[in-house]
Amino acid sequence: EKGGYEHFMLKEIHEQPKAYRDTMRGRMNAEGNKVILPELNLTEEQIKNIRNVQIVACGTAYNAGLVGRNLIESLVRIPVENDIASEYRYRSPIVTPETLVIVVSQSGETADTLAALREGQANGAHVLAITNVVGSSIAREANSVLVTLAGPEIAVASTKAYTSQLIAFTLLGLYLAEVRGTQSEPEVAKILAAMQSLPEQVEVILAQKEAIKTYAEQIAKHEHLFFIGRGVDYAVAQEGSLKLKEISYIHSEAYAAGELKHGTLALIEEGVPVIALATQESVLEKTVSNIKEVKARGAHVLAITHEEHANDLLRSVDQVFVIPQTLPLLTSALSVVSLQLLAYYASLALGHDVDKPRNLAKSVTVE
Ligand code: M6R
Repeated sequence: EKGGYEHFMLKEIHEQPKAYRDTMRGRMNAEGNKVILPELNLTEEQIKNIRNVQIVACGTAYNAGLVGRNLIESLVRIPVENDIASEYRYRSPIVTPETLVIVVSQSGETADTLAALREGQANGAHVLAITNVVGSSIAREANSVLVTLAGPEIAVASTKAYTSQLIAFTLLGLYLAEVRGTQSEPEVAKILAAMQSLPEQVEVILAQKEAIKTYAEQIAKHEHLFFIGRGVDYAVAQEGSLKLKEISYIHSEAYAAGELKHGTLALIEEGVPVIALATQESVLEKTVSNIKEVKARGAHVLAITHEEHANDLLRSVDQVFVIPQTLPLLTSALSVVSLQLLAYYASLALGHDVDKPRNLAKSVTVE
């Protein structure tokens, strides 16, 4: 049942190229310059009238929503808010019939996310569910459903469901952009072409898992570590940190790289591992300055970046992990794979139950 892998999590990490392909399949035209999403079930007029988007979810699905916000705001230029489902109702969110509420849930059964869906509908919003389970409660109650085709996810730590959610958000963003005219056809074609290379690029990362394993064994000796990044790298840092805590029980925090010096820098001392995500060209220089701030306090820094910046970064960090080149908008679908492997191997090195971490359940049906 584990297909020759030692754990479901490792199997599911390796299923990501397939999950990406399956989630994309049939959702673009033959010319590769248009996204087709009839399941969205929204008229052109409804899409043009959307004034704001609220993405509501828990845990890893929430983290996928952080990337989703980045994608939708860049592609469609509509304001997007991210909410943790258990907080959403109690903050009296401003929801109108022109709000698109997107609930994200792998299982489709998370109680808080289901309650958020009902809150959105009670206020007249169209609620779109991004879920991996077609017959789930959330899928049944939502106004429309964008299914991720990751296949069943057994390990408590979510991997392929998260990355399939990233693919779904990208398709959604492109589709909304087409209807609202915020991206040209060649621009859409360029992004779709880059998306189609992602599965092979994930394979490239998977082929380097031994290097990640060696690094994971090193960090397994530490009690605390930090993930830093800017923009979409910060969103991925949050997912990397959650994954590591969840299965290795090593304490970690994800910080917006520029925010460290407003308090957290005090925690950096000799030898503390810092994982810097540095894939975003537009803020690379700024991220490098932040890397220098932690290096100056003795941190041991691993940078995750593209080939073209590796040599530059090597001047300021201790180690570099290279991910294949893609568009800035799509890097999360690659960089996160290295962080999933890192969490996996750290948990393994510490002898924990990778697939069933303590205190956690796969599906959380209490509020
Ligand atoms: O099924 P859901 O996507 O609604 O689950 C939400 C979270 O409970 C889930 O993502 C959790 O954070 C994962 N175990 C993290 O790996």
